[in-house]
Amino acid sequence: MIVAVDGPAASGKGTLARRIAAHFQYAYLDTGKIYRAVGQSVLTAGRDPENLEAALQAARALDVKDLANPELSSDTAAVAASKVAALEPVRAALLGFQKEFAASPPEGMAGAVLDGRDIGTVICPDAHVKLFVTADVEERARRRHKELLDNGEASIYSRVLQALKDRDARDSNRSAAPLKAASDAIVIDTTAMNPDEAFATALGFIQKHTD
Ligand code: C5P
Repeated sequence: MIVAVDGPAASGKGTLARRIAAHFQYAYLDTGKIYRAVGQSVLTAGRDPENLEAALQAARALDVKDLANPELSSDTAAVAASKVAALEPVRAALLGFQKEFAASPPEGMAGAVLDGRDIGTVICPDAHVKLFVTADVEERARRRHKELLDNGEASIYSRVLQALKDRDARDSNRSAAPLKAASDAIVIDTTAMNPDEAFATALGFIQKHTD
């Protein structure tokens, strides 16, 4: 059983995907972390995430242990991620790991939930369930801003909003696996939903679809 969860940043897709995985006891993979780890590794090497050779070298050297680095949740890592993610050879180098995770989830688990931008379109086009989670960009910026403040970090709403718009544009307009809903995905707009409502909507769809 493969559940693909795609959508833009701060749409609630990570929270939803983790909850689906916990509910069904499936393995969970946050594929954004893979791109963040590659972007972060390029930055740590003092190189430019838009440099193909540097990004490809980092992608090929990626170790699963790198995904646990707490620095990956920073906005700096997110921006670097969206730059390396626009490079087709980098995506190609990371494809096998993601496909393998979906096909053979770790510890013999009965299913896998992957979240990202291209799970339903490229990584798992045959996923049993495809969800595309989205929300208005202003609402996503509000959530992200609140999260930063709750974590005791400095944040200015207008900057958060602009950063999300820039990242949406980079992710949607690139030629390599752009952010878009698969034609057979169900769209869940979480603008006016809390996490429980989003989960109930997703669960209803999954149960209907897999009965
Ligand atoms: O989901 P998250 O915000 O952690 O993703 C960081 C960046 O990684 C995204 O903005 C996107 O550019 C890239 N990404 C991607 N494909 C995925 C997951 C993430 O291009 N499957």
